[in-house]
Amino acid sequence: MVERIAEIRAEAEAAIAEASSTAELGELRVRFLGRGAELTLILRGIAELPAEQRGAVGKSGNQARGALEKLITDRGEELDASELERSVSEERVDVTLPGAPSPAVGHLHLITRTRRRIEDTMVGLGYRVMEGPEVELDHYNFTALNHPPGHPARMAQDSFYVAPGSVSAAALESAAVSLDEAVVLRTHTSPMQTRAMEAQGPPIFIVIPGKVYRRDSDATHSPMFHQVEGLAVGEGITLADLQGTLTEMLRAIFGEGREARMRPHYFPFTEPSVEFDVSCYRCEGGGKLADGSRCPLCKGVGWIEVGGAGMVDPNVFGFVEENGYPPDTTQGFAFGFGIERIAMLRHDVPDLRRFFDNDVRMLEQF
Ligand code: DAH
Repeated sequence: MVERIAEIRAEAEAAIAEASSTAELGELRVRFLGRGAELTLILRGIAELPAEQRGAVGKSGNQARGALEKLITDRGEELDASELERSVSEERVDVTLPGAPSPAVGHLHLITRTRRRIEDTMVGLGYRVMEGPEVELDHYNFTALNHPPGHPARMAQDSFYVAPGSVSAAALESAAVSLDEAVVLRTHTSPMQTRAMEAQGPPIFIVIPGKVYRRDSDATHSPMFHQVEGLAVGEGITLADLQGTLTEMLRAIFGEGREARMRPHYFPFTEPSVEFDVSCYRCEGGGKLADGSRCPLCKGVGWIEVGGAGMVDPNVFGFVEENGYPPDTTQGFAFGFGIERIAMLRHDVPDLRRFFDNDVRMLEQF
């Protein structure tokens, strides 16, 4: 029995010396000193041994037990120390290192920046920025803008019509029209002229930026694009004020020294109507580059078309007469143009659809 104790002790000593973690050491403690361990059972069985063996077995058993306990405790301290050292060195955090780089935040879309630039300019001229519904009643999109039923412009603009049920009853109710009125994705921002004059008497100076929709898609057209509408109604406003306003606006967008030009045109809701151009900023309006070649931007004309404008047609005031706009004495001008076109011109973008592909390689360039 005493020999067996010596064997157990030798085996345990070797295993404890080789233990490489406190967890492993814990297992050895159970295996050699636990309640079911062989040594424990020997010590517990001493009383049943013949009397002459008890002393020797008890002595060597208790010595072995004491020695192993001390070995385990000592080895445990060693392992604790080395584990701490390793975690301190491996898991060290250097608080003086710079933080992780912040994620890229990007920037506003070119169309948004162009819109804001136009808004800022117009606010500087005393205009207020308003927004209107993109899903619009035919009444505001066409009828109140002097397009009688069957007017060719209704066809020309190739509208997206919307089922009346898809517009909230409240919206229809507030517009005081019946549910069977046609509803359209607005084809221009002009419908807000009437809505704004219904809400406010003269004088009124507003710009309306927003999305508009037409059945159109090629390099210079997209089914959804953006326009800015302008409306100025007040005493004694004339075409000369329109000329001055367009000049200011175009200079803010295209640079000092630009000129505005109006050409006769036709729109149902203005009379007289014009299209307006900006003098070419590549050839300074001369139509030729420094080397004498034809300016590729304005194609040698010296002017670039920007949008439509005119004096508000008295028939339009007829729809808001009771809001303080008697058609025979009220005067004002309106204008409208596309934002994409401005951004394409200013930044040499060849295809309008690229604005909406959402390819960051394209968008990051601006
Ligand atoms: N709404 C017109 C269009 O989309 C542009 C326009 C022309 C707006 C003349 C106006 C205007 O306010 O007076 O083509």
